[in-house]
Amino acid sequence: MKIITSGFATLASIGFLLVASSQAFAEKDLYLHQVPQIGGMVIPGAESQDFLVASNYGALSVAPDGRVTRRSKDAGFLTELVALPGQANVLFSSGYRTKTEKLGIIRSDDTGKTWSRISDAVGGPVAFHAMAISATEPATMYGAEKTVQISRDSGKTWRSMGGPPGQIYDIAVSAKNPKSIYAATHEGLFGSLDEGVTWTRLNPVTQPATAVTTTPEGQIYAFVYGVGLLLGAEPGNNWNLVSKEFLDRALFNISIDPANPGRLLGVADTGAVMLSRDGGNNWIGFDGHLDKVPGRISAGEKLFNENCQACHGAKGIGEKPDDPRAVDENGFPLAPALNDDAHGWHHADDQLMATILNGSPRNKRMPAWKDEGLTPDDARNLVAYIKSLWSFRSLACQGGRHMRCMH
Ligand code: HEC
Repeated sequence: MKIITSGFATLASIGFLLVASSQAFAEKDLYLHQVPQIGGMVIPGAESQDFLVASNYGALSVAPDGRVTRRSKDAGFLTELVALPGQANVLFSSGYRTKTEKLGIIRSDDTGKTWSRISDAVGGPVAFHAMAISATEPATMYGAEKTVQISRDSGKTWRSMGGPPGQIYDIAVSAKNPKSIYAATHEGLFGSLDEGVTWTRLNPVTQPATAVTTTPEGQIYAFVYGVGLLLGAEPGNNWNLVSKEFLDRALFNISIDPANPGRLLGVADTGAVMLSRDGGNNWIGFDGHLDKVPGRISAGEKLFNENCQACHGAKGIGEKPDDPRAVDENGFPLAPALNDDAHGWHHADDQLMATILNGSPRNKRMPAWKDEGLTPDDARNLVAYIKSLWSFRSLACQGGRHMRCMH
């Protein structure tokens, strides 16, 4: 298995690792932050606030509050999800049925409720982990496993084209020219003007590129590991750094909301869905994003300064920031940092809220704030404020995902 420096397991290995976890699906009250692995996603736009993701539980629809609903039973472990342009009910996907059996190309005409296998593709059945459909010629579709393949009949028959150097993480097709495609690979960012036969390097940076997506206006978003999120112009020049706040984490599967082009979703290498509301400059966790609004954050800040700062320090730096292991006279740890420095981000939002409202079971110094007059809504505001102090890394590693960040 190939691992990037301090970084992420390759997509193929993640696929195999997590097939087994698909049995653990609890039909009730599952939230996106509890889904271990997300492949592609489809944002339908305008009429629907929900979006769809490919996951180890098959295709899921995700409500704005993060609650997920399984679209169908037994869909397998899906590694990619794309929709016909402007027709989000017609979906194409690929992945694994079992650990050893690949799905080939599957299609749904009812937004993921029922699926049928339409092709094995070349050398298949394949498990494409990247697919892209041309906006100008919707019957033209690309898929990538070891090489890039093309279909001109909506996924029924496929031809293997060349491949760019390096393992392919993502592909995108130009919104204007169906022959012009882009690939994010372990060796960097590449483009092809002839449907994938020949490839040229688009950016001098040779670090792995993990995501590439095109905009309807002829721009290209690309994520380069260790560099950040770039925005360029087709066919691959004038690159600008949009954001570099990602530290050692990576973004996969960047999707643009068709109803609001400044709204982007991406999947961190930890599996966490991340959201940007400003064209990629700033990213927050999708988990809790509804609370990440100025009113809640400032209300939370006020409550924090009044009630919590005395122990947890200004801006949550902790009771004794230069000696985080210090204990009180009973041998209990002092109030921990709630910013990035301690491990507040090991807890999901609901766990943080529970601690705030119910206090610490082992240390009475952390009171049950529900007995001191704080409401669940106050606790939400406090969590919104605390999370506003966190980096991309802590947000991407929050809760159940923190074990993947322990290296
Ligand atoms: C009198 C001191 C004190 C005050 C005031 C206080 N805390 Fe705490 N808090 C603590 C201590 C001590 C702990 C560690 C408890 C333990 O070790 O179990 C803690 C733990 C926590 C944790 C768990 C952190 C983790 O990493 O597990 C959260 C969240 C938290 N406090 C939030 C708050 C908020 C929000 C407020 C204000 C509404 C607040 N605390 C006010 C002392 C305080």
